[in-house]
Amino acid sequence: MKRMLRDFDWQGKRALVRVDFNVPFERGTTRISDDVRIREALPTIEYLRGQGASVVLCTHLGRPDGKRVPEMELGPVVERLGELLGAPVGYVHDAPGGEAKAAAGALAAGDVLMLETIRFWPGEETNDADFAASLASIADAYVNDAFGTAHRAHASTEGVARLLPAMAGLLMEKEITFLGGVLENPVRPLAALLGGAKVSDKLQVLGRLVGHADELFVGGGMAGTFLKAQGYEIGVSLVEEDLVGFCTDTMERAAAASTPVTLPEDVVVAERIEPGVPTSVVGIGDIPANAMILDIGPRTAADYAQRLAAVGSVVWNGPMGVFEVSPFNEGTRIVAEAIASGNVVSVIGGGSTAEAIAHLGLAEQMSHVSTGGGASLEFLEGRELPGVAALDDV
Ligand code: 3PG
Repeated sequence: MKRMLRDFDWQGKRALVRVDFNVPFERGTTRISDDVRIREALPTIEYLRGQGASVVLCTHLGRPDGKRVPEMELGPVVERLGELLGAPVGYVHDAPGGEAKAAAGALAAGDVLMLETIRFWPGEETNDADFAASLASIADAYVNDAFGTAHRAHASTEGVARLLPAMAGLLMEKEITFLGGVLENPVRPLAALLGGAKVSDKLQVLGRLVGHADELFVGGGMAGTFLKAQGYEIGVSLVEEDLVGFCTDTMERAAAASTPVTLPEDVVVAERIEPGVPTSVVGIGDIPANAMILDIGPRTAADYAQRLAAVGSVVWNGPMGVFEVSPFNEGTRIVAEAIASGNVVSVIGGGSTAEAIAHLGLAEQMSHVSTGGGASLEFLEGRELPGVAALDDV
């Protein structure tokens, strides 16, 4: 059990809070296209302010590789946070140095300060001890609310946690509760719905879920490799030849573990990925040689939708088709709507699945949509996340 935000007397203290404000921008602009990661951190910030603490926030943005990149400075993020909080947010173009320390030292109870993009300094990603110590010197205690970065052992996610009283923020707690619940104590039957482009991204999670979930459903581009392993001709669909054997083994292991695996029975195919391209719906035995699978078909979508709305819980990672390109978003939409309206505990992996759910306007109807892409996948694989492991045990 990890120490939580509430297990500390914050009155008059200064908190260093690692958040994950690595938000997307509209291409070529400074307009944030999805601020959910900022909004999800508000409860922790508000809690600390309400308890009489001052708050020093620290995040990465993009991958600047240890040097200052003006486009990756946090100006637009600070502005958005200020709007959402309805309070001024200070901003200093420094993190480990004297300027940051002076700005943090001048904070009064309830004040909020943002440090500069932490990956501008090489010591962050190398988890340098001196760099971690300089961050630690800014505050009385450390809070990790950056679930999306908890799979990285960096100075601001791991090193600093070893040097200060260290606890999980409210978002981190929520993520661990929902994702941990899927692994430890799910409402059964538990269904796992796996999609996305590649089997290679899901090797470990498949390994973890076979035998643990009560049912597995496969969609997305990765279904092609599974269908090939079952002996189907899949035209020019994406296939990972080197993983055909893995798919066969997975099906065999699942059968031995009495975990039914459902593959699509029909698919939407086209010759190219392009909006408005001619498409057809075919059974999996009839995929034309010049066509590629771009979505699950309507019979499959209806079947998945009906069965997934009736389970106890569902964990979903990976869209059912190329959801960014209409009309290949239909399978994802139909399944998502059924899960959202069913009486089912729905835990949605972050990354492109969360993006699809947000795009469909269904996030509020899911039990939990993770803010972590890689982190949620690693968590579901059963791996210990360094950013969580480093927090105090209670
Ligand atoms: C993410 O967007 O998945 C997190 O912010 C982690 O970013 P990273 O993959 O650059 O470490």
